[in-house]
Amino acid sequence: MRWWHSVQALFKRPTPGFRLMNGADAAQAAALHAASFARGWTEVEMSRLITDPNVEANALVSQQQLAGFILSRIAADEAEVLTIAVDPGWRKQGLGRQLLSNHLARLAGRRVSALFLEVEDENKAARALYARSGFEQVGERQAYYARPDGTRGHALVLKRAID
Ligand SMILES: CC(C)(COP(=O)(O)OP(=O)(O)OC[C@H]1O[C@@H](n2cnc3c(N)ncnc32)[C@H](O)[C@@H]1OP(=O)(O)O)[C@@H](O)C(=O)NCCC(=O)NCCS
Repeated sequence: MRWWHSVQALFKRPTPGFRLMNGADAAQAAALHAASFARGWTEVEMSRLITDPNVEANALVSQQQLAGFILSRIAADEAEVLTIAVDPGWRKQGLGRQLLSNHLARLAGRRVSALFLEVEDENKAARALYARSGFEQVGERQAYYARPDGTRGHALVLKRAID
């Protein structure tokens, strides 16, 4: 059965590794963002954010392909998540948690003491991820998100202290 293990190894994707992003990631990040959100960002918009020195931009990468990425804007000792997305083919395998955990460590290294974000109350996957990663609700914004069907969704404001 050795041949069977060789065939399996051929198709097994290497576990994505964590690294800082750079401008060359903009096209893949824009594509992943568009696959994850109703309103996408252009490659130019993405490039501007990734290369902004006040934005911490981190990714999980497997075979030169982005499996997930996160961007947060830093202002003084606080930061706000601008976006986080995991490739649909890599979801529910713990990558979101791993990405966020590494990102928090990076922010701690930049002397950030609290990370904020907004999440739609009906986004079960994201809410589970943030609850498991130690975020707590500190606010709510009614009818904040415009959905593609014309209805509006509430945003929850979450915060995570960083030691
Ligand atoms: C939210 C997102 C980043 C999560 O990434 P992920 O790699 O699938 O997350 P993980 O596998 O690390 O899962 C984290 C937790 O969420 C749970 N979870 C993940 N997807 C879920 C789902 N669809 N429904 C319920 N729980 C879910 C997992 O079970 C896990 O909890 P556990 O540790 O108790 O088992 C991913 O679903 C995504 O990219 N969504 C589209 C973009 C988006 O909504 N971003 C957030 C905007 S605020």
